[in-house]
Amino acid sequence: MSSLARESASIQSPWSPAPRGLEGIVVANTMISKIDGKAGKLIYRGYDISELAGVIPFEAVAFLLWVGHVPNKMELEIFRKSIAEHRQVSDEIKEFVISAPHEANPLDVLRTAVSIMGLYPPPKRNPGDSVLIEDGVNLVSQFPTVIAYFQHARNDEELIEPRTDIGHAANYVYMLTGEVPTKEHEYALDSYFTLLADHGMNASTFSARVTISTLTDIYSALVAAIGTLKGPLHGGAPSKVWDMLMEIRSEGNVTPWLTSHLKNKERIMGFGHRIYRTEDPRSKILKKLAKENSDPKTFALASKVEEEARRLLSAEHPERPLDTNVEFYSSLVLNSVGIPTDMFTPTFASARSFGWIAHIMEQLSDNRLYRPASEYVGPLGLSLPKNSDISD
Ligand SMILES: CC(C)(COP(=O)(O)OP(=O)(O)OC[C@H]1O[C@@H](n2cnc3c(N)ncnc32)[C@H](O)[C@@H]1OP(=O)(O)O)[C@@H](O)C(=O)NCCC(=O)NCCS
Repeated sequence: MSSLARESASIQSPWSPAPRGLEGIVVANTMISKIDGKAGKLIYRGYDISELAGVIPFEAVAFLLWVGHVPNKMELEIFRKSIAEHRQVSDEIKEFVISAPHEANPLDVLRTAVSIMGLYPPPKRNPGDSVLIEDGVNLVSQFPTVIAYFQHARNDEELIEPRTDIGHAANYVYMLTGEVPTKEHEYALDSYFTLLADHGMNASTFSARVTISTLTDIYSALVAAIGTLKGPLHGGAPSKVWDMLMEIRSEGNVTPWLTSHLKNKERIMGFGHRIYRTEDPRSKILKKLAKENSDPKTFALASKVEEEARRLLSAEHPERPLDTNVEFYSSLVLNSVGIPTDMFTPTFASARSFGWIAHIMEQLSDNRLYRPASEYVGPLGLSLPKNSDISD
């Protein structure tokens, strides 16, 4: 609490402190996903995440999140085709991405591209019209194209056009690397997309819901969500995990590195979670994928960091377990399929965009403007000094 707040508290009527970071406050009823932080479970529309990731294609999971049931063969085919056919971006977006500063943060490029998409929306929508699946498909299918175009534009390389004959994950790798991924890499990224697609009322999803609750357009809601995801306490961590591993370099350096960073009160990226009080269930699956796909030396280093950080953090915080979160092994999986480090968060955005759209649709289906209250804890009854020298 700041000294001003403390001082004013003493002159105010008693007030109860607001729950910091809205921890534990339920802000919506949702049928999209459920997190059981104690048991370490994540459920999408009734299905445990382990029943879905790598078991059915990511597009089927996206359909489940949006529509509410697992698609049948024909529904999946139509949905997949629709996503594939909307991958092409408009000339305006292409021009913007090519001319964006090469050193720009790729997530800023994606956020701005979505904002520009809002200047050329498909015709016929009135503010407040419920978001139809076509709108969502049109928007999120273009995320990988924007990201991959920027990757090539900033390296002065030729742009790679999207393909329509391969799945969402395979096309993403193809557009970034120029090569259709191996089955193993496609499987790893497809599973990653499923695992990251939704996660209860996380900060960016809440941003999207708050924004759309004003009955603005979906572009604005996604711009708000992407901006929220950017922070290192939310989606900005996986590249920092990778940087940390590269800085630690060898297993022998793990303990001294962690000890000195914890001594300086620095956070270890890829550990801890607001809700999970046990291992993040996504981390378990990602660890397996990382083991299967990354080089053994990097995997061994990451495992050592996991083991040591868990030991040191539990000594420092016996009151709460601090295990690996989704970002820790994501960094290895994304690196192994050929995604550049600073494209990790845009890749996260690309997966989470499907969850954002699901929540936007749900919010609009029974909308009420988000307008919480705040408790004023500042001073009251102040008067300006007479003859103040800044008075007119
Ligand atoms: C994700 C995160 C923001 C959730 O935190 P939270 O539940 O809001 O917990 P708080 O920020 O209130 O932290 C509680 C305590 O645990 C400590 N802590 C939490 N995560 C930590 C970490 N990764 N490394 C070191 N200490 C950590 C905090 O320093 C704090 O200690 P204090 O009470 O002595 O000040 C937090 O764990 C974090 O910053 N992790 C690192 C970033 C990261 O991996 N982000 C990706 C999230 S998916």
